[in-house]
Amino acid sequence: MDDAQMKQDLARVLFTPEQIKSRVKELGQQISRDFAGEEVVLVGILKGAVIFFADLAREISLPVRMDFMAISSYGSATKTSGVVRILKDLDKDITGRNVIIVEDIVDSGMSLAFLKENLISRGAKALRVCVLLDKPERRRCPIDVDYRGFEVPDEFVVGYGMDYAERYRELPLIGVLKPQVYGG
Ligand code: IMP
Ligand code: MG
Repeated sequence: MDDAQMKQDLARVLFTPEQIKSRVKELGQQISRDFAGEEVVLVGILKGAVIFFADLAREISLPVRMDFMAISSYGSATKTSGVVRILKDLDKDITGRNVIIVEDIVDSGMSLAFLKENLISRGAKALRVCVLLDKPERRRCPIDVDYRGFEVPDEFVVGYGMDYAERYRELPLIGVLKPQVYGG
């Protein structure tokens, strides 16, 4: 499917590539100030965060280490059960390190609540959460987000790493998917 076809599946554009770039730059600057003089480990959550992760890492003016985790929550795509399973764990020990979880979007908060508790228990020196998008209306697990790109309404969004059925991740913008695309 080409870009033009993918864009036809969108009800509207929420954030253009330019808006995303400038917000990611601000997040990188904020992190660089907060951890000035130190090193940070960015933990990207596969796969939705990879595009954001790659751009954010290049906006941080500190030594950065990169690691990744993949998790899955049992249940259907739209309703998570709250049971989270680790599909891929970190490669390296994070004891005594400044860790920043980098995630695409916080929705119910289940995934991040699990990840945060899991990584804190491994003895990180600092544990922060950085999300590009926050959908606060759907929150079921209260979660402190330290760095947040944008707030979004309760609609299904795709692009800039985020998918519907593994599609649309490569779109350079973030848009709302037309409900008829997912059988609405
Ligand atoms: P949570 O555990 O409910 O907060 O789930 C967050 C995860 O659900 C994100 O990492 C995304 O993979 C996925 N997700 C939630 N909302 C959306 C959306 O609007 N578009 C794409 N993925 C979403
Ligand atoms: Mg995800």
